Amino acid sequence: MSAETKSNIPVHVSLIMDGNGRWAKERGQERVYGHLEGVESVRACVEAAVEAGVRYLSLYAFSEENWNRPEAEVTALMGLMVKAMANEMESLHRNGVRFVVVGNRERLAPEINESIDSCMAMTADNKVLTLVIFLSYSGKWDILQAAKKMAVEILECPEKADDILDMDVSGFDRYLATSGIPDPDLIVRTSGECRLSNYLLWQGAYSELLFVDTLWPDFRKPEFHAAVEYYSKRDRRYGKVK
Ligand code: IPE
Ligand code: IPE
Ligand code: MG
Repeated sequence: MSAETKSNIPVHVSLIMDGNGRWAKERGQERVYGHLEGVESVRACVEAAVEAGVRYLSLYAFSEENWNRPEAEVTALMGLMVKAMANEMESLHRNGVRFVVVGNRERLAPEINESIDSCMAMTADNKVLTLVIFLSYSGKWDILQAAKKMAVEILECPEKADDILDMDVSGFDRYLATSGIPDPDLIVRTSGECRLSNYLLWQGAYSELLFVDTLWPDFRKPEFHAAVEYYSKRDRRYGKVK
């Protein structure tokens, strides 16, 4: 890797993990077989992110809209999540990975929330990489819950209204479910779909976007490093003239 590339490493890479079902179908298997193989890609990408010096890796694991899938698939995905946490957390912890889940956790079953809480507590002080799992998440849900938080603040403490009226866009960040997590520098979506599917609508305002045809279960270390390389060649102007 050239010195120039090294100096242009994204702080936060976010992956929309798509194409598990098609990957399984291509092999004449049930969709869940693709989700299972997708866990291997998660492990590979976490390792690759650490190798590349990325500080935040976030994964769109389950959208609010995904609750509308057949019950058996939702149950399988949630079961896989619990199993992956049980199997992977010790190794993540040993490698200095901080584990964070962001999303509408009220919709998750109590046993999933318990596992999440214990994994987040165990890894809270880790510094090498923050791994953010977006679970039961959608961008519109996030913006709406932020607006509701502000409304409740004003109801409970009317003096706060002036501060909120004076607030700029960075002030709004702290009401979002992603508060404290830097905006993604790069969002990659696998499987050839060129849409955000209600992902980080506010936070992705200036993200570089990369859409690749690779199906998620085939997205491993070389593909991750290629995405980082792609990012390193982008010229981010933020509306200015360079
Ligand atoms: C991504 O793969 C996993 C989730 C969205 C939970 P899909 O299950 O969407 O796979 P395709 O897009 O149907 O191939
Ligand atoms: C987006 O994938 C959500 C996740 C990757 C978790 P979907 O497969 O649900 O998106 P659509 O339905 O193709 O837009
Ligand atoms: Mg899909």
